Formats: sequence, structure tokens, C-alpha cells
Amino acid sequence: MFGEQKVSFSGVQPSGNLTIGNYLGAIRNFKEYSEQYKTFYCVVDEHAITVRQVPADLRRRTYETLALYLACGLDPQKNTLYVQSMVHEHAELGWILNCFTMFGELSRMTQFKDKSARHADNINAGLFTYPVLMAADILLYQTDVVPVGIDQVQHVELCRDIANRFNQIYPDTFTIPTAMLAKNGKKIMSLADPEKKMSKSDENQNAVVYILDDRDTIIRKFKRAVTDSGSEIRFDPQKPGVSNLITIYSCFTGKSIEEIEREFEGKGYGDFKLAVGEVTADALADVQSRYREFLSDKAQLEAQMKRGAEEASYYARRTLSKVQKKLGFVQIH
Ligand code: TRP
Repeated sequence: MFGEQKVSFSGVQPSGNLTIGNYLGAIRNFKEYSEQYKTFYCVVDEHAITVRQVPADLRRRTYETLALYLACGLDPQKNTLYVQSMVHEHAELGWILNCFTMFGELSRMTQFKDKSARHADNINAGLFTYPVLMAADILLYQTDVVPVGIDQVQHVELCRDIANRFNQIYPDTFTIPTAMLAKNGKKIMSLADPEKKMSKSDENQNAVVYILDDRDTIIRKFKRAVTDSGSEIRFDPQKPGVSNLITIYSCFTGKSIEEIEREFEGKGYGDFKLAVGEVTADALADVQSRYREFLSDKAQLEAQMKRGAEEASYYARRTLSKVQKKLGFVQIH
């Protein structure tokens, strides 16, 4: 809460290309929040370096992620859109919060366990304290709600614990945030293994549909999607492959599960997969053309980064200086 206004904050990593899972689970729904909240959307490049990045790629993806925010309809007049590393308060509050977070708490984070298994050669301390930096992101803006996908809820819960702990020692410092699963933000599963979340870092390129995939690629990937035994198009936990495709179709068309089941009654998997591919490609075509336009104007994107960072700093500075004062850091004005 800043003044009278409730705050919404979310972040997207500029690592890897964004998938329709990121789009449907999070970004597409960001726009709605700007009507009700003061909204901050951050490109979290400092989180991205918890796994090794090629510098040129990280830089390019930072521009791309911002362009994608804009292409998804986030109006920079109504939302603060910025890059994390340009606002130094994130890293500073992150350090402070490290001293209020327990080793045991971080050890329980499922994302840490997954990522350290996947990057066994680089289990660095940043990977471990990743959720603390995320807590700093959120708490700097006195955030009320955090729109995220289901996989990030555990991190937001930890953020609440950290904030409560801090507030207990130093009362009235932080607003306690709540994770908000987007109303129609669904968890999208891998096309190759529908028991697994669709992940931009999946090595199997056919498992993942990227927001920027071209039409033919999208249709081809859906054609190859793993389906289940039987032939019925029915939403059923026993049929995770078909259920995932129904979810995607529903997200892009706005049709209910029942409507979709009726629409494809008596039809085969082949027809259905083609239909899912086509609606996905149609829906993304719009975003893609706006994206290309935004990305082609680098100077404009940089101006936006600068403006966004200035806006964000104004709020971040206020919270950080309040925290520093409470902790007993000397402040000279
Ligand atoms: N950890 C988030 C993810 O990987 C990204 C993120 C960083 C974030 N800081 C955040 C999301 C703050 C919400 C709020 O998806």
C-alpha cells in the first residue's frame, strides 16, 4: 500500500524465450490489474544470473522481455515497467532480508531443489537465496498482491514469513503481500510430458510453445503433442495430455470445457490438435506483430527503461531508507 493505493507487483525473468505458459499463466493477466492497483512489472535480470547466462543473450532478452510486456498491452502510462538491476535498492534490501531468512526455510523451496538437481555443477548461493531477492522485489513497493503462476506461490509465502518476522521486530515496516493466481491463469503443461510444467528451459523443443514461434512451428508442435490412450476429447485427470490441450484451447478461445468437449464430440485427436494449434497461432499473431514493432525501436525501449527505473526508484528508496533507519544504519541527509 502506497498512500491510498493498493500495489501489485510481478516479475518475469529475461532468461530463455517466454512460453505460452508464461503468457497464459501470468503476463496476459497483468493488464487487468492496472485498473485496480498501482502496478509494477519488473524484468528480473538479477534473478536470471543465478544460472549462467551469455551476456549478449541476457542483454538482448532484457529488451525483448520489455517489448513483450508492451506487446501484451501493458501501457507504460498506467504501469511501471522497468529492469531490476537499474534500481539498486533491490539488491540492497535483498542483502538485508538475507539476515532475516533462515537456512532451513530456503532449503525447503521446491524450485531450489529442482534447479539444483538440474544445474548440479553450479549450485551457487544466489540460487539458494533467490527467494530472498524476490521478497525484496515485492516488499520494496509495499506490495499488496503478487500475480504469479502456481509454481511461485511458495516463494510468495516465504516472502510473507520474512515480512512478518521483520515487522515483529520492527513494527509497521512492510505491507504483507498475497499471491494472486490469475483468475483464468492456468498452469500449462509440457506437450511432451503433460505431468510436467511447460518450461522455457526444457531441452525438448517440441515440448514447449514459445510466444514468438511462427505459425507453422506452433501447428507442428501441437500435432506432435503427446495424447493419451483412447480417442475421446474429454477433460479428465486420467488424460493429462488431452486435458492440457483443452485448457490451452479454452484459454485462447474463452470457451468452457463443456463447450469444447461438445464441439469435438466424435472427432479424433488429429482434428483437435490442429484446432488447438490454429487458435494458438491466431491469438499470438497479434502479440507478435506488436512485439516486432516495439523491438525495432531500441531507443524508445531504452527511454522506457530509464523512465521506469526512475519511477520505481522513487518508491524503492522510500522503503529502503525506512528499513535502514529501523535497523540502525547511520543516515546523513
Ligand atoms: N521468480 C519469478 C519467476 O521465476 C520471477 C520473479 C522475480 C517474481 N521476482 C518476482 C515474480 C517478484 C513475482 C514477484 O517466475
